[in-house]
Amino acid sequence: MTPQRVLSGIQSTSESLHLGNYLGAVRQWIPLQDGYETFYCIADLHTLTVETKPDVLRRRILGTAAQLLALGVDPDRSTLFLQSGVAQHNQLGWIMECLAGFGEASRMTQFKDKSAKSGNDRTVVGLFTYPMLQAADILLYQADLVPVGEDQRQHIEITRDLATRFNSRYGKTFNLPEAFILKTGGKIFDLQDPTSKMSKSAESANGVIEIMDSPDVNVKKIKSATTDNGREICFDEKEKPGISNLLTIHAALTGLSVSQIEKDFEGKGYGDFKTAVADAYLAFFGPVREKTISLLKDESTLLQILRTGAAKAQVEAEKTLESAYSQLGLVR
Ligand code: TRP
Repeated sequence: MTPQRVLSGIQSTSESLHLGNYLGAVRQWIPLQDGYETFYCIADLHTLTVETKPDVLRRRILGTAAQLLALGVDPDRSTLFLQSGVAQHNQLGWIMECLAGFGEASRMTQFKDKSAKSGNDRTVVGLFTYPMLQAADILLYQADLVPVGEDQRQHIEITRDLATRFNSRYGKTFNLPEAFILKTGGKIFDLQDPTSKMSKSAESANGVIEIMDSPDVNVKKIKSATTDNGREICFDEKEKPGISNLLTIHAALTGLSVSQIEKDFEGKGYGDFKTAVADAYLAFFGPVREKTISLLKDESTLLQILRTGAAKAQVEAEKTLESAYSQLGLVR
């Protein structure tokens, strides 16, 4: 039996992933390499929806690639590539745009939120068509599973809708992908404001752990995380959002269960617990950061990995594009 296909993507919007990116989405990528055929795409074209200086963009793209490798994406088992290196994404993207309704695209919550923030005149058309390019990213590889964070659920839904529409109009061409979303521990909150999601656009940088920041800075952020009333270490998202968030982080980094950690910290205080979270952070991300730095020092090897990935991706992408074109009646 051929293994199921996995495809996921990440935008290269920053020189450092934050803890929420890793724990909410990228974490799932690593174990899926056992038993699935995995395609991981750095969605550099999606990143162009926000204007960025070219030298900064380049650093972010390479930085994202290096961090993914350091976190355990293995180029021998996964196809890791840049979206811009596989032209078929844009080619199928156009077809998706011609299938999608203006109304359904207008209902995408991410588009609504982002465009509301910047206003009509400063919202680029690419932000509107973003989900159709994302659909192409997924459908080109006939993916079965798409490991993503909860915030991407709607984009996977529209991908399925577009694939279904194409298949019923033109004949079965695309596999219907399924979102693969972590049930527990996928949502990480801001350390300073543990009721809102950890996000790069947070008001204060103090609540966001950027994994490429120096370990000292991050230990300090963890130790000054907002905690709650009382003194027990127990998971209670309503009454103790701060401690619950730290429990989620600790559990995800150590592989221990939340209830085990609660037991271990019975009778101990918040201070001890935060020290343990900081230690777990350092044990996990210390080596990841070092590895990333060394990968970035050898740019030609990094570029070679991405080119090899793009070449492999292209072969699969072209097969799907070719069949979509001929189903549509385009003359080959
Ligand atoms: N939109 C996704 C995000 O912001 C990134 C992405 C681009 C993606 N293409 C994808 C995710 C394809 C999954 C599959 O997180």
